Amino acid sequence: MAEQLPILAPSILAADYSRLGAQMEACNEANVQWIHCDIMDGHFVPNISYGPDIVKTAANCADAFIDVHLMIENTDDFIDVFVEAGADQITVHQETCMHLHRTIQQIKHHEIAAGVALNPATPLAMIEPVLKDIDLALVMSVNPGFGGHSFIDQSHERLQKLRNMRQTTGTEFLIEVDGGINPQNIQEVVQSGADILVAGSAVFKTDSITQSISELNKRAAPDRKTSI
Ligand code: DX5
Ligand code: ZN
Repeated sequence: MAEQLPILAPSILAADYSRLGAQMEACNEANVQWIHCDIMDGHFVPNISYGPDIVKTAANCADAFIDVHLMIENTDDFIDVFVEAGADQITVHQETCMHLHRTIQQIKHHEIAAGVALNPATPLAMIEPVLKDIDLALVMSVNPGFGGHSFIDQSHERLQKLRNMRQTTGTEFLIEVDGGINPQNIQEVVQSGADILVAGSAVFKTDSITQSISELNKRAAPDRKTSI
């Protein structure tokens, strides 16, 4: 990962799908490095979002790393589909994987990055056995399923603990935080340990995508000269 951390990852769950190409162009103009794609099946989470075709559109239009977040059951059955669609990384929920180590190997077999996500009530210890195998750990800072919800404050402590776990195990996975990120809390979330910041509403439910991204970048890394 050559890019400078922290990195903003706009979530297209909040985008206008009738103008997805144009909105990806706006992200390109704002030098967005990652695009976050939330896949929801209405079983693991109480919402249905979109499938591989939307991911393919985003991948074709955005000059960004395509970060696919699977909030679905039967995860193993859909890895290939999202690799085909253009995923550069697939993050699965620890809560949905009966054989998490094997699922991670299945993702890495496609020579893309593998991430594991934890819901707000899932102990961090649940991913301890796979810290050496993953490229990213995703801390859910909202209960998954919807955009526009408020950041769960306990996430700060979870991020700090996960950063300590990374240090004590000598592993190098990225720490991603997902849900309720906005200009008011982003700097504190970075200070708590987040490397990758997913933001949906704070990017796409605003008057200007490029301005919102620039504002979030500035607040995430106030000392940085260039935008992230
Ligand atoms: C929620 C998704 C998040 C969501 C973030 O289940 O995983 O990525 O899209 O949306 P905001 O930034 O609006 O909370
Ligand atoms: Zn997500």
